[in-house]
Amino acid sequence: GDSSTDAASGGGDSGDLITVGFSQVGAESGWRAANTKSIQDTLTKDNGFDLKFSDAQQKQENQIQAIRSYIAQGVDYIAFSPVVESGWDAVLEEAKQANIPVILTDRAVDSEDTSLYKTFIGSDFVEEGKRIGEWVSDNLGTEPINVVELQGTTGSAPAIDRKQGFEDATKGNPNVKIIASQTGNFTRAEGKTVMEGFLQAYPDIDVVYAHNDDMGLGAIEAIEAAGKVPGKDIKIVSIDGVKDGMTALSEGKINYIVECNPLLGPDLADIIKTLQSGGTVEPRIVTHDDAFDQAAATAALPTRQY
Ligand code: AHR
Repeated sequence: GDSSTDAASGGGDSGDLITVGFSQVGAESGWRAANTKSIQDTLTKDNGFDLKFSDAQQKQENQIQAIRSYIAQGVDYIAFSPVVESGWDAVLEEAKQANIPVILTDRAVDSEDTSLYKTFIGSDFVEEGKRIGEWVSDNLGTEPINVVELQGTTGSAPAIDRKQGFEDATKGNPNVKIIASQTGNFTRAEGKTVMEGFLQAYPDIDVVYAHNDDMGLGAIEAIEAAGKVPGKDIKIVSIDGVKDGMTALSEGKINYIVECNPLLGPDLADIIKTLQSGGTVEPRIVTHDDAFDQAAATAALPTRQY
């Protein structure tokens, strides 16, 4: 209800609950589904929250609109995972003027004024790309290694950082060469389409570096349709560690996965409760990520949560 009514009646429909407006990127991947579920399962009424959730369908303008609407509704906190890195200063300034604390989850913004948000919680994407690059450099022999890269959403923090990390880790190895790189928007369907194009244009692909499992899974379909064996004729490395990706790794169709932990709900709830009780939080909270080869994936699968 509106806050004046709440005040007059000593607490309205949201009572003592903490109202949180969350603007999600979209529903582009298995990772995103697990992330959404973690947030919705944690920020519940039983846990003291009134969660308003919106899905931006990978469009920044939808996120800006959602954030403006949360400001207009006078929510207690705004949390969001920004689709792209740039272009947030104006709307974050509006939230600041309205005294609504903002928490970034999963993806970063490039705003220079870090007072526009309280903290940024999520994985170190540069590190993820580095670990993939090191694995490719160390495990695939001393012959030239032709890599095709399926990039995440253009302008998104994970696409920028995962490319950077891989390039940093492989620049000292002249054998590793990215021969083509294109966005597949973090979706399985676009990963497949882009891979079909790569297979037609380049007869000598050794490795697919997919910025997430879903695009790697799309690449598997394209490789099999072209009569080649994924994981053998063409190796695949990817990031996330969702169940479908780990299953493909266990079956030998993917060769190596660096995890990106999507279960950010409990940490987000803790951060908000800390701020609510007047405490402070670290400006950057990095979550822990594992990495898996075939044997490790097989061992992890039975208890995998997502
Ligand atoms: O921002 C995290 C990335 O977004 C995940 O790695 C990818 O699957 C998702 O779409």
